[in-house]
Amino acid sequence: MSDTGRQRAPRNRTLTLSEAERNACAARLVRVSAPVNGADVLDRTIHGDCLEVMAQLPAHMADLLFLDPPYNITKEFNGARFAARTVDEYEVWLESWLPRLLRVAKPTASVYICGDWRSSTAIQRCAERHLIVRNRITWEREKGRGAQANWKSCSEDIWFCTVSEEYTFNADDVKLKRRVIAPYRDDAGAPKDWEETACGRYRLTSPSNIWTDLTVPFWSMPENTDHPTQKPEKLLARVILASSNPGDVVLDPFLGSGTSSVVAKKLGRHYIGIEIDETYCCLAEKRLELADEETRIQGYDGEAFLERNTSGETRSRRDIATRTAHGQGRLFAEAGGATERE
Ligand SMILES: C[S@@+](CC[C@H](N)C(=O)[O-])C[C@H]1O[C@@H](n2cnc3c(N)ncnc32)[C@H](O)[C@@H]1O
Repeated sequence: MSDTGRQRAPRNRTLTLSEAERNACAARLVRVSAPVNGADVLDRTIHGDCLEVMAQLPAHMADLLFLDPPYNITKEFNGARFAARTVDEYEVWLESWLPRLLRVAKPTASVYICGDWRSSTAIQRCAERHLIVRNRITWEREKGRGAQANWKSCSEDIWFCTVSEEYTFNADDVKLKRRVIAPYRDDAGAPKDWEETACGRYRLTSPSNIWTDLTVPFWSMPENTDHPTQKPEKLLARVILASSNPGDVVLDPFLGSGTSSVVAKKLGRHYIGIEIDETYCCLAEKRLELADEETRIQGYDGEAFLERNTSGETRSRRDIATRTAHGQGRLFAEAGGATERE
């Protein structure tokens, strides 16, 4: 996936790798073939098969596991093909690795497992055998082909599980900033549970398990790569803010283009990412390097999540420049990041 010879439109912001960048990124990857200390892999990208790697990591080192394995559909990952199978066969496949991965989770850890409707039944059954399943989040994926004889598939699931009854959940850190439809006032004329700003009237609300404010990364978003199933940074921000604290360890054994590591870094968490494909590892490394300078997360203003990724809805440019979350994430679109549909 080095970008030699491929023509892209001038406004296409998809991240690519030159040969030199690829070599520099590859040199930073870790390979693990024997037991390692946590410090050897903390804040690193590991190139390898997660099942082999996880067996070598110290037990109980992760506060949050984000699991985004190949879904139960036929899909190519840079030449490696995952083949769709029956629900029962997919469940057997999950069972072959999930319990083995869990040895790295702390007793207080949360585990999020992603899937689509074809994978979800198997994920639920498998997760219930090894974890406490707390919720199923369904998020709207705007992309997707229309179908003539079926409903267009526009949703995905994330199963929220914990290892025990003791776990982190920072509900106040993942509030949604919603435009107020009915701006009620109290007897003194003051806004009831909402805020009057120069940009409009807003209320902070707790998010439900239906997430409709996300955009799958695409060509005009600076976080976009050529990875075929890249998750939005905004989605990972919500998971990481809710289910970890600054300084905690976020571990992703199916790292892909690196979204979880990048967002963990932007939000002041430690990260460990494992990915079997070297090109994807290098893309993750390039994104991590860019995150040294660019700490903003599109659609998150450092205090709350915006209903859309677009700019200007909630805060003036001056407000945004001064606001940070845990000293890290800031609103993206205001400062020249792409809007959702350019
Ligand atoms: C659904 S994608 C993850 C996408 C990722 N969340 C992102 O935002 O880019 C699954 C990834 O798992 C990788 N993968 C598949 N089998 C693996 C294994 N045994 N060990 C490590 N990575 C694996 C694939 O190469 C693919 O990049």
